[in-house]
Amino acid sequence: MMQEADFNFTFSANQLVAHFKFSKISLYIKREDLIDPFVSGNKFRKLKYNISEALNRNSTTLLTFGGAYSNHIAATAAAGKKYGLKTVGIIRGEELGKDIKKTLATNETLEYAATHGMQLHFITRETYRDKEQPKFIENLKAEFGNFYLLPEGGTGTNPLAIKGCEEILNEEDKEFDYICCSIGTGGTISGIINTSKPNQQILGFPALKGDYLSSEIKKISTMENWSLITDYHFGGYAKVNTELIHFINLFKKKYEISLDPVYTGKMLYGIIDMIENSKFPQNSRILAIHTGGLQGIAGMNELLIKKNLPLIDV
Ligand SMILES: Cc1ncc(COP(=O)(O)O)c(C=O)c1O
Repeated sequence: MMQEADFNFTFSANQLVAHFKFSKISLYIKREDLIDPFVSGNKFRKLKYNISEALNRNSTTLLTFGGAYSNHIAATAAAGKKYGLKTVGIIRGEELGKDIKKTLATNETLEYAATHGMQLHFITRETYRDKEQPKFIENLKAEFGNFYLLPEGGTGTNPLAIKGCEEILNEEDKEFDYICCSIGTGGTISGIINTSKPNQQILGFPALKGDYLSSEIKKISTMENWSLITDYHFGGYAKVNTELIHFINLFKKKYEISLDPVYTGKMLYGIIDMIENSKFPQNSRILAIHTGGLQGIAGMNELLIKKNLPLIDV
Protein backbone atom coordinates (compact mmCIF):
# COMPACT_ATOMS: atom_id res chain seq x y z
CA MET A 1 0.00 0.00 0.00
CA MET A 2 1.21 3.50 -0.77
CA GLN A 3 2.67 5.09 2.31
CA GLU A 4 2.15 8.81 2.84
CA ALA A 5 4.29 10.97 5.08
CA ASP A 6 1.95 12.20 7.74
CA PHE A 7 2.65 15.89 7.37
CA ASN A 8 1.15 17.62 10.30
CA PHE A 9 1.66 21.21 9.27
CA THR A 10 -0.54 24.27 9.39
CA PHE A 11 -2.28 25.09 6.12
CA SER A 12 -1.94 28.44 4.53
CA ALA A 13 -4.69 30.96 3.95
CA ASN A 14 -5.04 34.01 1.74
CA GLN A 15 -4.64 37.29 3.57
CA LEU A 16 -5.90 40.58 2.19
CA VAL A 17 -2.92 42.87 2.41
CA ALA A 18 -3.98 46.04 0.66
CA HIS A 19 -6.79 47.55 -1.30
CA PHE A 20 -5.58 50.35 -3.53
CA LYS A 21 -8.33 52.97 -3.52
CA PHE A 22 -7.62 54.73 -6.80
CA SER A 23 -7.21 51.61 -8.97
CA LYS A 24 -9.52 49.43 -6.86
CA ILE A 25 -6.88 46.70 -7.01
CA SER A 26 -6.86 44.13 -4.19
CA LEU A 27 -3.64 42.43 -3.21
CA TYR A 28 -3.78 39.18 -1.29
CA ILE A 29 -0.90 37.03 -0.06
CA LYS A 30 -1.13 33.27 0.23
CA ARG A 31 0.65 32.71 3.53
CA GLU A 32 2.58 29.56 2.66
CA ASP A 33 5.29 30.92 4.95
CA LEU A 34 3.09 30.00 7.91
CA ILE A 35 3.11 26.27 7.12
CA ASP A 36 6.25 25.79 9.22
CA PRO A 37 9.25 27.99 10.09
CA PHE A 38 11.72 25.73 8.26
CA VAL A 39 9.75 23.36 6.04
CA SER A 40 7.95 26.43 4.80
CA GLY A 41 6.31 27.58 1.60
CA ASN A 42 7.40 25.82 -1.55
CA LYS A 43 9.91 23.71 0.42
CA PHE A 44 7.01 21.92 2.09
CA ARG A 45 5.30 21.45 -1.27
CA LYS A 46 8.46 20.10 -2.93
CA LEU A 47 9.32 17.71 -0.11
CA LYS A 48 5.87 16.33 0.66
CA TYR A 49 5.61 13.61 -2.03
CA ASN A 50 9.34 13.01 -2.15
CA ILE A 51 9.43 12.13 1.55
CA SER A 52 6.48 9.78 1.03
CA GLU A 53 8.32 8.16 -1.86
CA ALA A 54 11.54 7.81 0.16
CA LEU A 55 9.57 6.09 2.94
CA ASN A 56 7.89 3.81 0.40
CA ARG A 57 11.21 2.77 -1.03
CA ASN A 58 12.44 2.11 2.51
CA SER A 59 15.24 4.60 1.94
CA THR A 60 16.99 5.56 5.14
CA THR A 61 18.87 8.61 3.84
CA LEU A 62 18.01 11.77 1.90
CA LEU A 63 20.88 13.41 0.04
CA THR A 64 20.68 16.84 -1.52
CA PHE A 65 22.68 19.88 -2.64
CA GLY A 66 22.70 23.55 -1.79
CA GLY A 67 24.54 26.78 -1.10
CA ALA A 68 25.61 27.96 2.34
CA TYR A 69 22.30 29.76 3.07
CA SER A 70 19.97 27.42 1.21
CA ASN A 71 16.34 27.26 2.35
CA HIS A 72 16.18 23.80 0.82
CA ILE A 73 19.09 22.52 2.94
CA ALA A 74 17.42 23.76 6.14
CA ALA A 75 14.05 22.30 5.10
CA THR A 76 15.52 18.91 4.16
CA ALA A 77 17.32 18.67 7.51
CA ALA A 78 14.10 19.51 9.39
CA ALA A 79 11.94 17.10 7.36
CA GLY A 80 14.51 14.28 7.63
CA LYS A 81 14.60 14.65 11.39
CA LYS A 82 10.81 14.65 11.58
CA TYR A 83 10.51 11.43 9.54
CA GLY A 84 13.48 9.57 10.98
CA LEU A 85 15.55 9.80 7.80
CA LYS A 86 19.26 10.53 7.83
CA THR A 87 20.19 13.57 5.77
CA VAL A 88 23.33 14.46 3.85
CA GLY A 89 23.86 17.99 2.52
CA ILE A 90 26.42 18.50 -0.24
CA ILE A 91 27.35 22.15 0.19
CA ARG A 92 28.89 24.47 -2.41
CA GLY A 93 32.16 25.98 -1.11
CA GLU A 94 35.02 23.78 -0.04
CA GLU A 95 36.48 26.60 2.08
CA LEU A 96 33.52 26.36 4.48
CA GLY A 97 34.59 22.85 5.46
CA LYS A 98 38.11 23.87 6.48
CA ASP A 99 37.10 25.20 9.89
CA ILE A 100 33.69 23.68 10.46
CA LYS A 101 33.38 25.06 14.00
CA LYS A 102 33.84 28.59 12.72
CA THR A 103 31.46 27.96 9.81
CA LEU A 104 28.71 26.71 12.10
CA ALA A 105 29.28 29.57 14.53
CA THR A 106 28.77 32.14 11.78
CA ASN A 107 26.16 30.51 9.54
CA GLU A 108 22.72 29.93 11.06
CA THR A 109 21.45 27.86 8.13
CA LEU A 110 24.25 25.31 8.31
CA GLU A 111 24.20 25.35 12.09
CA TYR A 112 20.47 24.59 12.01
CA ALA A 113 21.00 21.78 9.48
CA ALA A 114 23.85 20.25 11.52
CA THR A 115 21.92 20.37 14.80
CA HIS A 116 19.02 18.67 13.02
CA GLY A 117 21.29 15.77 12.16
CA MET A 118 22.39 16.66 8.65
CA GLN A 119 25.82 15.42 7.68
CA LEU A 120 27.48 18.28 5.81
CA HIS A 121 29.94 17.65 3.03
CA PHE A 122 31.66 20.61 1.39
CA ILE A 123 32.81 20.57 -2.22
CA THR A 124 34.47 23.04 -4.58
CA ARG A 125 32.41 25.21 -6.89
CA GLU A 126 33.84 23.35 -9.91
CA THR A 127 32.81 19.93 -8.55
CA TYR A 128 29.44 21.39 -7.60
CA ARG A 129 28.78 22.29 -11.23
CA ASP A 130 29.12 18.58 -12.12
CA LYS A 131 26.95 17.35 -9.28
CA GLU A 132 24.39 15.74 -11.57
CA GLN A 133 26.94 13.67 -13.48
CA PRO A 134 26.43 9.90 -12.98
CA LYS A 135 30.10 9.45 -12.00
CA PHE A 136 29.80 12.02 -9.22
CA ILE A 137 26.60 10.41 -7.91
CA GLU A 138 28.34 7.00 -7.97
CA ASN A 139 31.17 8.44 -5.85
CA LEU A 140 28.63 9.83 -3.39
CA LYS A 141 27.01 6.38 -3.12
CA ALA A 142 30.41 4.84 -2.39
CA GLU A 143 30.91 7.40 0.36
CA PHE A 144 27.43 7.69 1.91
CA GLY A 145 25.73 4.40 0.95
CA ASN A 146 22.36 4.29 -0.84
CA PHE A 147 20.28 7.42 -0.67
CA TYR A 148 17.14 9.06 -2.00
CA LEU A 149 18.35 11.96 -4.13
CA LEU A 150 16.61 15.32 -3.98
CA PRO A 151 17.71 17.83 -6.63
CA GLU A 152 19.19 21.21 -5.75
CA GLY A 153 16.46 23.61 -4.62
CA GLY A 154 14.14 20.62 -4.34
CA THR A 155 12.68 20.70 -7.85
CA GLY A 156 14.65 20.52 -11.05
CA THR A 157 12.17 18.63 -13.18
CA ASN A 158 11.38 16.29 -10.26
CA PRO A 159 7.76 15.21 -10.94
CA LEU A 160 6.94 14.64 -7.26
CA ALA A 161 8.08 18.16 -6.36
CA ILE A 162 5.96 19.57 -9.19
CA LYS A 163 3.00 17.47 -7.99
CA GLY A 164 3.38 19.08 -4.55
CA CYS A 165 3.55 22.58 -6.06
CA GLU A 166 0.35 21.84 -8.00
CA GLU A 167 -1.39 21.85 -4.60
CA ILE A 168 -0.48 25.48 -3.84
CA LEU A 169 -3.59 26.79 -5.63
CA ASN A 170 -7.01 25.56 -4.60
CA GLU A 171 -10.54 26.01 -5.86
CA GLU A 172 -11.06 29.27 -3.94
CA ASP A 173 -8.16 30.84 -5.80
CA LYS A 174 -9.94 30.71 -9.15
CA GLU A 175 -11.37 34.14 -8.36
CA PHE A 176 -8.00 35.84 -8.76
CA ASP A 177 -7.06 37.50 -12.04
CA TYR A 178 -3.32 37.40 -11.38
CA ILE A 179 -1.20 34.90 -9.46
CA CYS A 180 2.34 36.09 -8.72
CA CYS A 181 5.23 33.85 -7.76
CA SER A 182 8.95 34.31 -7.25
CA ILE A 183 11.24 32.15 -9.41
CA GLY A 184 14.54 30.41 -8.76
CA THR A 185 14.61 27.22 -10.83
CA GLY A 186 11.06 27.55 -12.19
CA GLY A 187 9.66 24.45 -10.48
CA THR A 188 7.21 26.19 -8.16
CA ILE A 189 5.66 28.37 -10.84
CA SER A 190 5.34 25.35 -13.14
CA GLY A 191 3.19 23.59 -10.54
CA ILE A 192 1.11 26.74 -10.11
CA ILE A 193 0.60 27.13 -13.87
CA ASN A 194 -0.51 23.50 -14.14
CA THR A 195 -3.42 24.04 -11.74
CA SER A 196 -4.32 27.60 -12.73
CA LYS A 197 -7.43 28.42 -14.74
CA PRO A 198 -6.96 29.47 -18.38
CA ASN A 199 -8.45 32.92 -17.69
CA GLN A 200 -5.88 33.64 -14.95
CA GLN A 201 -2.52 35.27 -15.66
CA ILE A 202 0.44 33.79 -13.82
CA LEU A 203 3.30 36.25 -13.38
CA GLY A 204 6.74 34.93 -12.46
CA PHE A 205 9.32 37.23 -10.86
CA PRO A 206 12.80 35.74 -11.39
CA ALA A 207 15.09 36.32 -8.40
CA LEU A 208 18.08 36.12 -10.73
CA LYS A 209 19.14 37.04 -14.25
CA GLY A 210 18.25 34.02 -16.31
CA ASP A 211 17.20 33.80 -19.95
CA TYR A 212 16.89 30.03 -19.65
CA LEU A 213 13.93 30.15 -17.25
CA SER A 214 11.23 30.35 -19.94
CA SER A 215 12.46 27.16 -21.59
CA GLU A 216 12.66 25.40 -18.19
CA ILE A 217 9.03 26.27 -17.47
CA LYS A 218 7.92 25.20 -20.95
CA LYS A 219 9.43 21.76 -20.31
CA ILE A 220 6.98 21.23 -17.43
CA SER A 221 3.89 23.31 -18.23
CA THR A 222 1.91 23.23 -21.42
CA MET A 223 -0.42 26.14 -20.62
CA GLU A 224 0.37 29.56 -22.04
CA ASN A 225 -1.23 31.87 -19.47
CA TRP A 226 2.03 32.99 -17.90
CA SER A 227 4.80 35.51 -18.38
CA LEU A 228 8.01 36.53 -16.68
CA ILE A 229 8.55 39.97 -15.14
CA THR A 230 12.30 40.34 -15.35
CA ASP A 231 12.79 43.88 -13.99
CA TYR A 232 13.09 43.10 -10.29
CA HIS A 233 16.09 40.80 -9.78
CA PHE A 234 18.12 43.64 -8.20
CA GLY A 235 21.31 42.65 -10.02
CA GLY A 236 21.11 38.89 -9.61
CA TYR A 237 20.71 36.01 -7.22
CA ALA A 238 20.92 37.09 -3.55
CA LYS A 239 21.94 40.63 -4.62
CA VAL A 240 20.24 43.33 -2.57
CA ASN A 241 20.45 47.10 -2.17
CA THR A 242 19.36 49.63 0.44
CA GLU A 243 16.09 50.34 -1.38
CA LEU A 244 15.05 46.68 -1.23
CA ILE A 245 15.98 46.39 2.45
CA HIS A 246 13.99 49.52 3.28
CA PHE A 247 11.04 48.13 1.35
CA ILE A 248 11.14 44.81 3.24
CA ASN A 249 11.35 46.60 6.60
CA LEU A 250 8.53 49.00 5.71
CA PHE A 251 6.35 46.16 4.44
CA LYS A 252 6.83 44.30 7.71
CA LYS A 253 5.97 47.38 9.75
CA LYS A 254 2.88 48.16 7.68
CA TYR A 255 1.43 44.68 7.13
CA GLU A 256 3.16 42.57 9.80
CA ILE A 257 4.42 40.15 7.16
CA SER A 258 8.11 39.30 6.89
CA LEU A 259 9.57 38.90 3.42
CA ASP A 260 12.87 37.29 2.54
CA PRO A 261 15.46 39.33 0.61
CA VAL A 262 16.24 36.70 -2.04
CA TYR A 263 12.77 35.81 -3.35
CA THR A 264 9.55 37.18 -1.88
CA GLY A 265 10.94 40.66 -1.06
CA LYS A 266 11.87 41.21 -4.70
CA MET A 267 8.53 39.89 -5.95
CA LEU A 268 6.45 42.10 -3.63
CA TYR A 269 8.61 45.12 -4.45
CA GLY A 270 7.85 44.40 -8.11
CA ILE A 271 4.11 43.90 -7.63
CA ILE A 272 3.69 47.14 -5.70
CA ASP A 273 5.84 49.05 -8.18
CA MET A 274 3.70 47.68 -11.02
CA ILE A 275 0.48 48.62 -9.22
CA GLU A 276 1.79 52.15 -8.62
CA ASN A 277 2.75 52.43 -12.28
CA SER A 278 -0.68 51.27 -13.52
CA LYS A 279 0.63 48.02 -15.01
CA PHE A 280 -2.44 46.11 -13.78
CA PRO A 281 -5.96 46.92 -14.99
CA GLN A 282 -8.42 48.56 -12.56
CA ASN A 283 -10.25 46.19 -10.20
CA SER A 284 -7.61 43.45 -10.60
CA ARG A 285 -7.51 40.82 -7.89
CA ILE A 286 -3.93 39.77 -7.33
CA LEU A 287 -2.74 36.80 -5.29
CA ALA A 288 0.98 36.75 -4.41
CA ILE A 289 2.36 33.44 -3.18
CA HIS A 290 4.54 33.77 -0.08
CA THR A 291 6.98 30.93 -0.70
CA GLY A 292 8.64 31.20 2.72
CA GLY A 293 12.43 31.32 2.97
CA LEU A 294 12.49 33.47 6.09
CA GLN A 295 15.24 31.38 7.67
CA GLY A 296 17.62 32.99 5.15
CA ILE A 297 17.26 36.48 6.67
CA ALA A 298 19.84 35.75 9.39
CA GLY A 299 22.45 34.76 6.79
CA MET A 300 21.73 37.82 4.68
CA ASN A 301 22.09 40.06 7.75
CA GLU A 302 25.55 38.59 8.38
CA LEU A 303 26.54 39.64 4.86
CA LEU A 304 24.91 43.07 5.25
CA ILE A 305 26.93 43.76 8.42
CA LYS A 306 30.12 43.05 6.47
CA LYS A 307 28.99 45.40 3.68
CA ASN A 308 27.96 48.11 6.14
CA LEU A 309 24.40 48.11 4.79
CA PRO A 310 21.18 48.45 6.83
CA LEU A 311 19.85 45.21 8.29
CA ILE A 312 16.57 43.41 7.67
CA ASP A 313 14.30 43.60 10.73
CA VAL A 314 13.50 40.24 12.29
C1 LIG B 1 11.61 31.11 -0.54
C2 LIG B 1 11.69 30.69 -1.96
N1 LIG B 1 10.84 31.22 -2.84
C3 LIG B 1 10.88 30.90 -4.14
C4 LIG B 1 11.80 30.00 -4.62
C5 LIG B 1 11.81 29.69 -6.07
O1 LIG B 1 11.36 28.40 -6.31
P1 LIG B 1 11.74 27.60 -7.63
O2 LIG B 1 13.19 27.24 -7.50
O3 LIG B 1 10.88 26.41 -7.60
O4 LIG B 1 11.51 28.51 -8.78
C6 LIG B 1 12.72 29.42 -3.73
C7 LIG B 1 13.73 28.47 -4.22
O5 LIG B 1 13.54 27.31 -4.15
C8 LIG B 1 12.66 29.76 -2.36
O6 LIG B 1 13.51 29.24 -1.46
